[in-house]
Amino acid sequence: MMTQEELKRVAAHRAVEMVTSGMTLGLGTGSTAAHALDRLGDLLRSGELMAVAGVPTSLKTEAHAGRVGIPMLALGGATRIDLSIDGADEVDTELNLVKGRGGSLLREKMIEGSGGKFVVIVDESKLVPRLGCTGAVPVEVVPFGCDRTLGLVRKVFDGLPGFSARLRKVVVGKEEVPFVTDNGNYIVEMFFEDGIRGDLGEISDRLLRITGVVEHGMFIGMATSVVVAKKDGTVAVLH
Ligand code: 5RP
Repeated sequence: MMTQEELKRVAAHRAVEMVTSGMTLGLGTGSTAAHALDRLGDLLRSGELMAVAGVPTSLKTEAHAGRVGIPMLALGGATRIDLSIDGADEVDTELNLVKGRGGSLLREKMIEGSGGKFVVIVDESKLVPRLGCTGAVPVEVVPFGCDRTLGLVRKVFDGLPGFSARLRKVVVGKEEVPFVTDNGNYIVEMFFEDGIRGDLGEISDRLLRITGVVEHGMFIGMATSVVVAKKDGTVAVLH
């Protein structure tokens, strides 16, 4: 039986097979996407891939891509993105995603939503019947007035049994402080008892209408395909 880490690597390697020389790539963030970065680095070093450039979705990915020798472009410097490869926290039956538990949802959405194909790489534990089933749905908010913004996010789900929301915190030394994204923002985490049962598009609109909300981690209708590595050793590509 393969470990979860091996499954992540299998999914990542399958997605990298879709990369051809000359492509500009969106480079995802997280432990699954890290396997794709390593594979891309290997293929570039061996000369099997040439003239590939990547647009990193986080500072961590930028550092990793630099270490493995992937040439990089800023989002504004790329005339097009041919293919983005990234992991996800959840994938529902319609291939909608929750992303951003690593906190990189804004840059991920900007890059992966900027055209070209978006291939998601997951092990089968990420497949869910509804978004929000297995953990937080993150929302990036500006620090100014974040308590007020948190209150307004809670209002979107007023009266929904089992719903809660809080600011993501991290421990620094002995102190709990807000988690800060690469963009200098905070993250509100929304929790649902049994996942989100409602119109995702409508919920997205209501969240994005809140002044102070920058973006949320529901990636609705964005994935072109999802590569799923399964425990039985098979790989499925969902469209
Ligand atoms: C980071 C993300 C990641 O893609 C997501 O959290 C999945 O990470 P992992 O591959 O480590 O499970 O959205 O913001």
